[in-house]
Amino acid sequence: MNSKKNIKGRSFLQSFTFSLLIVAFVLLSACDYNRRTTGWQYFEDMVTSPAYESYTANPNFADGKTMQPPVPGTIPRGMVPYAYEKTDEDRVLAAATLVNELENNKTNLQRGEKMYGVYCMQCHGDTGDGQGPLYVNKKYTYPPASLLSEKMLASPEGDIYHVITVGHGIMAEHGSMIRPEDRWKIAMYVKEVLQK
Ligand code: HEC
Repeated sequence: MNSKKNIKGRSFLQSFTFSLLIVAFVLLSACDYNRRTTGWQYFEDMVTSPAYESYTANPNFADGKTMQPPVPGTIPRGMVPYAYEKTDEDRVLAAATLVNELENNKTNLQRGEKMYGVYCMQCHGDTGDGQGPLYVNKKYTYPPASLLSEKMLASPEGDIYHVITVGHGIMAEHGSMIRPEDRWKIAMYVKEVLQK
């Protein structure tokens, strides 16, 4: 009994020491060997990617960059490119072609009024007469066109949509700020409320 116990005790001590050694080995081998690495890599490429990172130099491309610009002509998903340019001919063409397909109702007109107040009123004025606060206060010196002129009374909503989208003369484009639906609602508001 006694000797058996001894043998058992010793082998327990031995295996305990052995386990300690293994744990110590694993812990030590996992230690940083310098401050810039996380330690050993057991599966090398899973820690340090063999691929180039987005913002690093890259000898494989002519411009030496990893992140390449999109192919010319690429457009964001869902975007419909605008077919007309900021020229007099294109304005006439757009006015003759583009049709407002939104329903003329209170909700759309209210949205148009709101957007007009945000994007147009400061120059073209509350009533559309071209006497907006920016112009009246002389902060903006070029006279904003009246949206109530004979010419504008005769022009369709597509004409206003076009001017909002690409601008006209000295007026800058607003297409990048106002989404297409809201441009139509502004045009509707000008036609159906301001010009009435
Ligand atoms: C920063 C001032 C400014 C803002 C904001 C502005 N416009 Fe203009 N707009 C002008 C000026 C100035 C002209 C005249 C441009 C010219 O003749 O060179 C003009 C011209 C126009 C014309 C053409 C008028 C014509 O007789 O041919 C329309 C239509 C028009 N604006 C609508 C709008 C609408 C709608 C908005 C809002 C989305 C808007 N504008 C925002 C300054 C502005």
